[in-house]
Amino acid sequence: MTVARSLVGQAVGVLKGAKSLSVLTGAGVSKESGIPTFRDADGIWKDMDPLKVATLEGFMKDPKFVWEWYIARMNKFKEAKPNPAHKGIAFLEGKIPQFTLITQNIDNLHHDAGSRHVIELHGNIWRTRCLKCHEVERMESIPQKSPPQCQKCQGMLRPDVVWFGEALDPDHVRRAGEACDVDAFLIVGTSGQVWPAAGFAHEAKRHRAYLVEINTQESELSSIVDLSLLGRAGEVFEQILAGW
Ligand code: OAD
Repeated sequence: MTVARSLVGQAVGVLKGAKSLSVLTGAGVSKESGIPTFRDADGIWKDMDPLKVATLEGFMKDPKFVWEWYIARMNKFKEAKPNPAHKGIAFLEGKIPQFTLITQNIDNLHHDAGSRHVIELHGNIWRTRCLKCHEVERMESIPQKSPPQCQKCQGMLRPDVVWFGEALDPDHVRRAGEACDVDAFLIVGTSGQVWPAAGFAHEAKRHRAYLVEINTQESELSSIVDLSLLGRAGEVFEQILAGW
C-alpha cells in the first residue's frame, strides 16, 4: 500500500514547516515490529477479555494468570525491534524544535528507537509497582515466578501499566495537554477509541494544530484530521523520509 506522492509531499511540507509538533501513537505503530494491536481482526481483544487482564479487579481475582499473560507479552516484546515508523518519529524529534511524543504503547520501542521526549500514557511493561509499598522499579529481567514479589517489603507486584478504570498519571495528563498547543499534530496507528488518550487529538484541533493521521484504515479520529495517509506506518514513514 503506497500513499500518493502528492499526499506524502503535503505531509512533509507540514512537518518541515512546523516549529512545534506532537505525535500521538497507538498499537498500530508497533504492528510492523510483530506486536499485535488490540481491536484489529487479529487483535488481542479478539481472544482475551480485557476485564480479565486489564483491570485491577481481574488482577486481584487471579494475579498468577494475569502475570503469566504479561510475561508472555514481555517475551514477545523482547524479540521486537523498532520499525521505520518508530525510527522516523525519533528523526522528527531531532528536526523540530519543540517536540513531544505521547504514546499509549507500553512496549518501550519508542525509547529503543531513540525518542527522548516521550509521555507513556499507559505505563511501561518493563516496570513493576508494589501494591504494598508502592515502589516503582525497572525490571532487570523477566520474572521467573508468578506473581513476583517486592524485594523490599515482600508485597505483591503488579505491572506498572494503566488498566481500564484507572486514572492516568496527572503529570502525564498535564504535560500531554500542554503538548496539544502546537503547529502540527501527528496521529499514528491508533483507533482513537480509548479516552482520555484520544481526547488529546481533539484538544490539538481546538488549538488549531494541523492534524495528520497515518493508519491502515479510517479511525474514530479521521473525521477531525486535515490530512490522512492511508497505509502501514513503517512504509509511510519510509516514504516521508525519502521525500524529506
Ligand atoms: P487499537 O488496536 O484500538 O488500534 C490500532 C490501530 O492501528 C487501528 O486503528 C488500526 O487500523 C491501526 N493499524 C494497524 N496496523 C497498522 C499499521 N501497520 N500502521 C498503521 N496503523 C495500523 O490500539 P490503540 O488505539 O493503541 O490500553 O488502543 C488504545 C488502548 O486500548 C491501548 O493502549 C490499550 C487498549 O486496550 C489498555 O490496555 C489500557
